[in-house]
Formats: sequence, C-alpha cells, structure tokens
Amino acid sequence: MRRTLGKLSLVLGATVVLAVPQVSWAQLSSSQLEAWLNTPAASSHVGNITGDAKAAAMPYRRYCVGCHGVLGDGNGENAVWLDPKPRDFQLAVFKCRSTPTGTLPTDEDLYNTIARGMDRSNMPQWSTFTKDERANLVAWIKHFSPRWQTEKAGAPITITPEPEVTPERIKAGREVFARVQCWKCHGVQGMANGPSAATLTDDLGRPIQAFNFTDGTRPKCGDTDQDIYRIFMTGLDGTPMPSFADNIKPDEAWDLVFYLRTFMAQKSKEKEMAKQLGLKPVDPNAPAGQQ
Ligand code: HEC
Ligand code: HEC
Repeated sequence: MRRTLGKLSLVLGATVVLAVPQVSWAQLSSSQLEAWLNTPAASSHVGNITGDAKAAAMPYRRYCVGCHGVLGDGNGENAVWLDPKPRDFQLAVFKCRSTPTGTLPTDEDLYNTIARGMDRSNMPQWSTFTKDERANLVAWIKHFSPRWQTEKAGAPITITPEPEVTPERIKAGREVFARVQCWKCHGVQGMANGPSAATLTDDLGRPIQAFNFTDGTRPKCGDTDQDIYRIFMTGLDGTPMPSFADNIKPDEAWDLVFYLRTFMAQKSKEKEMAKQLGLKPVDPNAPAGQQ
C-alpha cells in the first residue's frame, strides 16, 4: 500500500511485472461490524464537531450503500457498472489524504472528500449534508475497517507558505518534472500518454489512467495550489501515483506546482508566463541537469 519512489523504479521497469501484495482478511461479518460500532474508532472529530457512527446508519443506507455496499466493501449493487470502482472501506486505503503515504487519513480529509466528491469517477459531490451529518458519515466509514481499531491517523504533512510565481520558478519546476520523471506516466505535455501510461494498474490489479492535465478535468483530491502540492507529496494510495516526499524539497514542490499549471486548460498566470518564455516540453533523452 505504501508507495514511494523506491518502488516506483520497479513500476517503471519495462520488464518487471509488479504484483503489489494486497493486505487481505476474511470478509468481515455484520456482527463484527456491529461490535466495532461501540468502539472509540466509530467516532470522528472535525474542528469542534464530534461525529457519531450510529447516527449515520440511515443516511449511509439511503445515499451510499448502492455503491459502497452494506458491509462497506465497495460491492454495492451499482458497483459492477462503475469504473473506477467504489472504495472498499474495509481496506481503509484512501487516495485523498493530508497524511504521508501508507498512513490513515485524518477525519478532516474524509470529511472534505465527502463534500468535494471525486472528479473522473461516480463519487458524487455531497453538498446537502449538514456538517454534523458529514462528521457522522466519517465515523461510520471508520467503523468498517480493523485498521482504525489499532492505528492512528498519520500526521499531516507540512505545506510551506506559497511563494510568488516567477518565470524562474516555472523553469525550475520543469527541471523537477524532468528529474523525478513525472512524464513517464503523465507524458511530457501532461496528456497522460507517457511510456508507462498504457500499462498502469491499481493495487487491486485494475487498469487505471494517469491524470490528463490538459483536458479541463480537475484533480480528484482538490484543485487549489495547496491541494496539488499535497497530491504529489503524499501520493494517492492504492494507485500507481506515488509519494515524492523523499525526492522533492518543499521549495521545489512549489516550482513544480507552478509548472503543472502551465499544462492545464484553465487560464493562469503560469500559462501566460510559459508562453512568453517559449517553454518547450522536457526532453526525456537529455542528459541529467541539461533540460
Ligand atoms: C454512485 C456511486 C457512489 C455513491 C452513491 C457514493 N460513492 Fe463514494 N465513491 C464512489 C467511487 C466510484 C469512489 C472511488 C473514486 C476513485 O477512486 O476515484 C468513491 C470513493 C469514496 C471515498 C474514498 C475517498 C478516497 O480518498 O479514497 C469515500 C470516503 C466515499 N466514497 C464516501 C462516500 C459516502 C460517505 C457516500 C454517501 C454519502 C458515498 N461515498 C456515496 C462512488 C460512490
Ligand atoms: C507511475 C506512474 C505515475 C508517476 C511517475 C506519476 N504519476 Fe501522477 N498519477 C498517476 C496516476 C495513475 C494518477 C491517477 C490516480 C487516480 O485517478 O486515482 C495520477 C494522478 C495525478 C494527479 C491528479 C490527482 C488527482 O487527485 O486526481 C496529479 C496532480 C499528479 N498525478 C501529479 C504527478 C506529479 C507532479 C508527478 C511527478 C512528481 C507524478 N504525478 C508522477 C500516475 C503517476
């Protein structure tokens, strides 16, 4: 489940077939889940709101069960039609986290995801719940997995204050993009057509596409500069999108965020600056440090 650049070299090796072992346990029974409803894990804390799992039983049944299933295993009756598949809450592996790769998300991460929904998937945006109802749903999600019984959420990563965008920073971001080889999956123009793109699978062996920066869709874990920083510094667990926390320094991370903006369809200062610079896509064959 933990994915860092160390493993990435395997993912990218053309001849290596990577079978990521998936932690598995016997399908949980409803009586086990019932017992967990009475543990501290079946609660949540978001700011000064405390969520209670039991209070979410009805809303979950009404709004979530069709996709995520009665046992939270992602096998709701609509699941067969969906791609990507609904999350299996029993595994407690989440894409959108403020916490390091391999760790559990914070309650606030799950709370934000429910409101935001997930672009490029059938996970809807839920803007109709009150804050209390959302916090209750977070607690409910947590009662599905044994991980919450024994593990604490990870500590959120530190995001340094955002510096001012400059042409120099955009050029530096291009260097980072080349050095850590984001292009292997995302392509040199961010169009999700790098040399590894066609063969990517998630941890459950299902084909998955890299994010296409250019088609106007939004990153599924948020669209602010901070969100994008967080995405590549924590990774999307359960997918081939790794964490680069060990390979990219905070200042470089901001440079990279600015460079990624130059790919995106939406208008931005960064796009304008890149045009003026006449910035070319990175050259995968250029010697190190000579982009
Ligand atoms: C129409 C189907 C559908 C419904 C209804 C639905 N979901 Fe989802 N949900 C999904 C899919 C699909 C994903 C996985 C998306 C992905 O991996 O990109 C997902 C993922 C999630 C995640 C994982 C986020 C992460 O960071 O990995 C959470 C939490 C979640 N849903 C909560 C809920 C809650 C709470 C409800 C009910 C209020 C709900 N969902 C209703 C389809 C649905
Ligand atoms: C091994 C392949 C691979 C590499 C290398 C890679 N990515 Fe990704 N990336 C993916 C995949 C696959 C997804 C889509 C995950 C999903 O939709 O659940 C993704 C998604 C993303 C997203 C959007 C996430 C979202 O919330 O939808 C961003 C931003 C991103 N990658 C940035 C980067 C950056 C920056 C780098 C280099 C520092 C990088 N990626 C390197 C495979 C990769």
